[in-house]
Amino acid sequence: MKESLFIAFEGIDGSGKSTQAHLLVDRLKEEGHRVHATCEPSGGPIGSLIRNIFSGRIEADHRTIAGLFVADRLDHLLNKTNGILKKLEEGYTVVTDRYCLSSYAYQGTHMPMDWVIEANSQSTQLLKPDLHVFIDIDPEESIRRMQAGRSTSDMYENLDNLRKVRENYFLAIDKVKGGEKVVIVDGNLPVDQVAIKVWKSAAALLNNRP
Ligand code: TYD
Repeated sequence: MKESLFIAFEGIDGSGKSTQAHLLVDRLKEEGHRVHATCEPSGGPIGSLIRNIFSGRIEADHRTIAGLFVADRLDHLLNKTNGILKKLEEGYTVVTDRYCLSSYAYQGTHMPMDWVIEANSQSTQLLKPDLHVFIDIDPEESIRRMQAGRSTSDMYENLDNLRKVRENYFLAIDKVKGGEKVVIVDGNLPVDQVAIKVWKSAAALLNNRP
């Protein structure tokens, strides 16, 4: 019997998923749940290596990055100090800002998505989310939200990429939705309205808990 829930937030950059993950964590705590909030790239050594690559401090090929995400995810799950599996065992509800669908969508823009799915199969065999919350936003709106300090050419490059990532998210959701619960929330709505929809999905799950 499952005692605690695992909820994963997903969305393109600028979708507001981090804000929504925080709001859900706060609400769950208000309702008396013990909650562990976490994210990917993780706060562990492999996660910080990935952040160093994304910030340009370390150079790495996309295939290397895909492999690092596989390793980071396994460490995020299996770490003996604060890994997700340990937290679930201790009775925490775990809310993560990104999980496997992020790799399918983002790394899937550089290599076949099925390869990415296969490469992440150790993680998905260990743990699938009870709920994926995909905050869906128009890439144009996401760019508007992230606009400050970017050059126009940067923004176009980014817009093209965000469109591809969003398309990949829908392909990825199609692939998992037979066996896994995915809720798609319109992230173009005001923050509080998005939060209400997210809460309703989580609450339905909590009420139906075995
Ligand atoms: P993000 O959630 O945007 O972190 P932050 O709020 O710190 O900026 O994630 C950072 C980037 O990592 C984002 O552009 C998506 C990317 N990413 C992948 O490419 N693959 C993955 O598997 C994950 C988890 C993230």
